[in-house]
Parts: sequence; C-alpha cells; structure tokens
Amino acid sequence: MTGKGLTIAIDGVIGAGKSTAARGAAAALGYRHLDTGAMYRAVALAAARGGVEPGAPALGAFLEGLSLEFPAGRGGGIHLGGEDVSEAIRSPEVSRSVGAFADDPVVRRVLVRRQREIGRCGGVVAEGRDMSTVVFPHADLKVRMVADLEERARRRHREFLAAGVEISLSRVRADIRRRDREDAERDYGVEGGAPEDAVEVDTSGLTADQVVDRILALARKRGA
Ligand code: DC
Repeated sequence: MTGKGLTIAIDGVIGAGKSTAARGAAAALGYRHLDTGAMYRAVALAAARGGVEPGAPALGAFLEGLSLEFPAGRGGGIHLGGEDVSEAIRSPEVSRSVGAFADDPVVRRVLVRRQREIGRCGGVVAEGRDMSTVVFPHADLKVRMVADLEERARRRHREFLAAGVEISLSRVRADIRRRDREDAERDYGVEGGAPEDAVEVDTSGLTADQVVDRILALARKRGA
C-alpha cells in the first residue's frame, strides 16, 4: 500500500457485476475507478474513426499517439483526445469490434502499460479480466467475482428490458455461455487461472450494495 491508498484488482466472469461493484467501492473509498474495458472500447472507437484495423502494422504508432484520459471527479467517464466518449464506446458497433482489438497483442501491451501508470500510486479500484494476473499481480487486494450462469443471465436480461431491448432470456443465456467460452480461450499472457491470493466473491443472490459491502470489508481488513 502507498500513502494514497490500496490497489484493488477486480476480475471475474462476464456478468458477475464487476463494473457496478468497482464503481461503488471506488466511490465509497474515495479511490479512482479504473474501467479497463472502457479503455479497450475507446481504442476500438478511435481505430474505427481513424480507419485502422486490428493487426495493422500502423496500429502501434496510432496507439502511442492516442490521448486516453479518465478525468477525476464526478461523472468522470473516459475522454479520447479531450472528447467525452463514455456513451459512444457503448455502441453496438464498438461492442462488436472491441474483441478483435482486445485480442491484439500490441493493443494489450500499450493498454497494460497505461493501466499500470494509472495504478502506480495506489488509491485505485481496477476492474477487468486480467487485473490480478497480469496488470497488478502485486495488488493489495485481489477479488475474483463469480455468479451462477442463471443469475447472470437474469440480470443481463433485466438490463436489456429496462433499456427497451426485446430479447429472450434463453438468448441472453446462450450469449453469456458463448462469451464465457471465448474468454476462457483468450490468451491474456498468463499461464493458469486465478492467483492463489485472490478472494472469490460469489455475487449470486447478493444485491449490488451487498457486493460493495463485501469488497469494502475486505479492503478495510487490508488497511483502507
Ligand atoms: O467489460 P467490457 O465489455 O467493457 O470489455 C470490453 C472488451 O474488452 C471485451 O471484449 C473484454 C475486453 N477486455 C479485456 O480484454 N481486458 C480487460 N482488462 C478488460 C476488457
């Protein structure tokens, strides 16, 4: 731990509630919330605008010149070259293209480096699939969030309905199953599974507030 607070790394399966938990825990602790999925999404958006494909030789130089920022303070969000792209990165086009950029080793190398720079001083809740294995292997607290497939499907389905999207529960369930498979096959640059010192939090049957409380209790035990 540093003077500015702990480094908390949250990873886990799709739909376990990582973002909600990370945002809530960061707000309660007065830490930064580092949404690394948003960084991969911002790269996909910028590349689409710049006409750069994943795997293209020009991608490395393009990424080095990219200004990606998380302005601190209320709302925060993610800015690309000074423009707030927090909403644009959630578009269906970006959701479709981001996987290919997340699979690109050049993108991973550049983003992992930036994530470490942001987390270097502590006081951060970093969320994403490779947080405790690759990006912050020495994090003060590593949380691996899991939940039943059925519960994750129900939650996602409710979110879709609330957003006015007509979709069946079985389709949502099949989609999560497929993404679980893809995620398990993805190479994040580490051998093996979760680190031994990660604390597993099963969010099945817990409310978002209860999940945040669990994380806060674990963080306080470590001196937050
Ligand atoms: O969590 P999300 O849907 O916003 O993530 C967007 C994409 O980025 C998704 O394909 C997973 C990938 N990702 C990743 O490979 N590594 C991370 N640390 C975070 C997200």
